[in-house]
Amino acid sequence: MIRCRRYLICFLCLFFTSEGTISAAVEQNFTFDKSVLFGVATAAYQIEGSWNESGKGVNVWDYYTHDTNLVSDGSTGDIACDSYNQYKEDVQLLKKLGVDVYRFSFSWTRILPTGQVNNINQEGVDYYNNYINELIANDIKPIVTIYHWDHPRSLDLLGGWFQPNMVDYMVQYADLLFSLYGDRVKTWITLNEPHSICVVLSSYIAGLNPTYPKGTAEYMCGHNMLKAHSEIWHLYKDKYRRKQKGTLGIALSLQSYFPATDTEEDRKAVDKVLITRFGWFAHPVVYGNYPPSMIDTIARYSAEQGFPQSRLPRFTWRERSRLAGSYDFIGVNNYISFLVQSLGKEVDKTPSYENDGGATVYEDPDWNKNYTQKIQIYATGFRKILTWVKKNYKNPKIFITEQGYANQNSSLNDEDRIYYFQTVLPVLWKAINEDKVKIAGYTVWTLMDDFEWVSGYKPKMGLYRVDFDDPKRTRTPRDSLGFMTDFYRQRSLAGLL
Ligand SMILES: *[C@@H]1O[C@H](CO)[C@@H](O)[C@H](O)[C@H]1NC(C)=O
Ligand SMILES: *[C@@H]1O[C@H](CO)[C@@H](O)[C@H](O)[C@H]1NC(C)=O
Ligand SMILES: *[C@@H]1O[C@H](CO)[C@@H](O)[C@H](O)[C@H]1NC(C)=O
Ligand SMILES: *[C@@H]1O[C@H](CO)[C@@H](O)[C@H](O)[C@H]1NC(C)=O
Repeated sequence: MIRCRRYLICFLCLFFTSEGTISAAVEQNFTFDKSVLFGVATAAYQIEGSWNESGKGVNVWDYYTHDTNLVSDGSTGDIACDSYNQYKEDVQLLKKLGVDVYRFSFSWTRILPTGQVNNINQEGVDYYNNYINELIANDIKPIVTIYHWDHPRSLDLLGGWFQPNMVDYMVQYADLLFSLYGDRVKTWITLNEPHSICVVLSSYIAGLNPTYPKGTAEYMCGHNMLKAHSEIWHLYKDKYRRKQKGTLGIALSLQSYFPATDTEEDRKAVDKVLITRFGWFAHPVVYGNYPPSMIDTIARYSAEQGFPQSRLPRFTWRERSRLAGSYDFIGVNNYISFLVQSLGKEVDKTPSYENDGGATVYEDPDWNKNYTQKIQIYATGFRKILTWVKKNYKNPKIFITEQGYANQNSSLNDEDRIYYFQTVLPVLWKAINEDKVKIAGYTVWTLMDDFEWVSGYKPKMGLYRVDFDDPKRTRTPRDSLGFMTDFYRQRSLAGLL
């Protein structure tokens, strides 16, 4: 089976050679240095299940999935992949795959049922202790995301990310995690994709609640998240780093963008989108403040809309100095490419994040007709944005904290997913070896099909298929698992293209 598929793919490679797009792919082995750490990534709410067991408290996703219609098909993470019960088996899957690292997140309310450190759930603490020990016993380095979207419902009721005390709660939580697990966890990620939680999710919540203050709430959320990040970075540096010798970063969503039309306006809109999505968070972490163009635009729009002050909050001098340089690496979650069209007008009467960004962003429906073409566009974009980050953010160490391919096909013959990795991995190699981008590691999203937030279980992204009708949540390897296993074992694409 595998052989047939490879011939087919090689046929496609040769086919594209005539266009010169991936001609080099068939001539080189793309061998990766040992210093690049390879693995897979998951997140607690998306796989663990056991939402109301062993002392776990209710988080916002428990609440949204049960008590609102945020997830339109009514699916929940109540059981998900049942990883809470099957973590030992999952570690064996990781071992077979031959990973160096496993990126996963801790469920805040499993450790702190009410979100605050006055009430520690020992069963939750033990669970992650056992998990980490199991990984280490199998020679897999844990990478822990402290916050992957599932904050406690009790803190949400206090205002969640829209109010500044959330910073203190998260710092106290992180302090506990470093003290409990920092002897074994050497790579920490404070936050996963603040843009998605502050804008994408906010827009869904706004859909449920029309009084939601759009164009203001997003920036308050981002502001508090950035402060939480830098405070945790300093906490680690001052209290733990000397002894634990770990590193700490933030994972940001970074897709690539192409102008919708070949006009100056749309080309400029691409830059704006990169700055208002990625720069919004990367600029403060690297330089200590929001991107100057964002500060100017939002201040001007806010004034025209009749606000006495900018809708984008300001950092104090002290906050700026604490933010600047608060990273050891920048995590990049990259999946796809988008088209960008300038809004062509300036300020709207009604404030919104989208209007502030000056562009609409969408997927070209034509790309979806042909996955090989679509994936080549993704890969071209991937290389472009890696060099863009290198150039604009002081050549940071980058960890590709997520990259993967979503379809809606539960088939085990996922030739489109294999083609995706065959196309993006040579780009990763070229970014390292030709563009001299500093890549620390790469974790595929994701080990197994999981709960994909508001899309429920429809998107399939796993190297393993999970049968969600089976109480055991049986995992079955897809062809892409075989591909990635070969790649991780030999650390090169020799014979895989
Ligand atoms: C690629 O790998 C194959 C098999 O490991 C080896 O025979 C060949 O010499 C390598 N080619 C290059 C260009 O490194
Ligand atoms: C936990 O939730 C499930 C639904 O997912 C429910 O059937 C069960 O009774 C709950 N258990 C407890 C202890 O509340
Ligand atoms: C898919 O796209 C490629 C590259 O644009 C093109 O050469 C090929 O003919 C397309 N295949 C199909 C089946 O449309
Ligand atoms: C799912 O994948 C299989 C195997 O590649 C393919 O034959 C089938 O057409 C796909 N189905 C859909 C709906 O894309």
